[in-house]
Amino acid sequence: MSKLVQDQLEANIPKAWTPTFQSTVIKASNAEIWDKDGNRFLDYVGGYAVLNTGHVHPKVIAKVKTQLDNFTHSCFAYAPHQNAIDLCTEVNKRYPIDTETKTFLVNSGAEAVENAIKIARYYSGKQHIVAFKGGFHGRTYMAMGLTGKENPYKKGFGPFPDFISHTDYPYEYRGITDDQALENFISHIKNVGTDNIAAVLIEIQLGEGGYIPASEYFLAELKKIAHENNILLIFDEVQTGFGRTGEMFGSNKVGVTPDIATLAKGIAGGFPLAAVVGRSKIMDSIHDAGIGSTFGASPVSCAAALGVLEVFDEENILENVKNHSEIMTKNLLNLQTEKDFIGDVRGYGTMIGVEIVENKKIKNPSKDIAMQIIEHSKDNGLLLVNCGLEGNVIRFMGPLTTPITQVQEAMEIFTKSVNAI
Ligand SMILES: Cc1ncc(COP(=O)(O)O)c(C=O)c1O
Repeated sequence: MSKLVQDQLEANIPKAWTPTFQSTVIKASNAEIWDKDGNRFLDYVGGYAVLNTGHVHPKVIAKVKTQLDNFTHSCFAYAPHQNAIDLCTEVNKRYPIDTETKTFLVNSGAEAVENAIKIARYYSGKQHIVAFKGGFHGRTYMAMGLTGKENPYKKGFGPFPDFISHTDYPYEYRGITDDQALENFISHIKNVGTDNIAAVLIEIQLGEGGYIPASEYFLAELKKIAHENNILLIFDEVQTGFGRTGEMFGSNKVGVTPDIATLAKGIAGGFPLAAVVGRSKIMDSIHDAGIGSTFGASPVSCAAALGVLEVFDEENILENVKNHSEIMTKNLLNLQTEKDFIGDVRGYGTMIGVEIVENKKIKNPSKDIAMQIIEHSKDNGLLLVNCGLEGNVIRFMGPLTTPITQVQEAMEIFTKSVNAI
């Protein structure tokens, strides 16, 4: 990074918000970005799993430009606009909940989670929410409270809202089998008292928590137990939504439907937008004006989201995910057999996590080796980040529109970087 930019950052930006990337981005197109020194990178960070349809997709940009020429803002609760109505209609049509649904639009994943909890508490008349260790739900207070990863998200920021507790997420590689996690969930809800539990909130695949997928069996049983105990099931699909798992939604992928789901990140091609979709009966239970947001349902972001849906409908994106996933999984599993420090390769669709350990026998997490691989990858032109409770999982979050040649290039760079250890 140039001295000037470094000085500007140090003078103006809080230390805790210092960016990882050591330069400023000046241009991006689909899966490629260029920094101000002209260096080109394959972007497998993708704005943190946001650019499912790539940077500046022409269909998304066209919709946005048209909207910009008309108007940029109108608070939906006062003066509605067609973009938001069309988008909610589309989400209701596509999200696989088996009754009629309604959709409410906000600005960020955290805000969607906050609202999902508000709605679940209101509808059920109960207060307690069960979430999962390792889960990440955002940085507002309720979302922080629900997050099951202390450092860096919660450390020093408490107290958090009451009536939240965490149970074990299934993590086969670390000895928490599906049945063990289900047993733990049952005793957890008994201890809390099922009469006061409004909802259980879960990611279909842990994101920040280490790219750990929950199985169809686990989620189906979780739903069964929750419903037997009059507990609502909320899927946090902020990261799994819109194609990343190989199906339009994570819910389609696992064949289990929730009562309420949250969506954000990739749904608007890089514009801020999030959604809460849920059974109509639940969504309609709230009193007049009990939910809302000034900027939620921005007509510009909604235009972008409609563009993203057009891309999904017209460009075989889910087929891409299947092809990308095959290439990536084959390469990464090969590397796993060769390298003692690659403990596990896992995930739905292109949401693949590579867990790095000191060696396969002892399985001690090695953040150090993971960060070395990430650093080598960046030097070789591939952007990646880590995740996991111990920071030792490397995750892939590239656009689903990446050309196959660039998926192969990403795998070549990753292999070279692993071989440099
Ligand atoms: C599963 C999940 N939920 C919620 C959030 C919070 O989203 P946002 O950063 O848009 O508030 C994230 C962000 O990474 C996430 O991965």
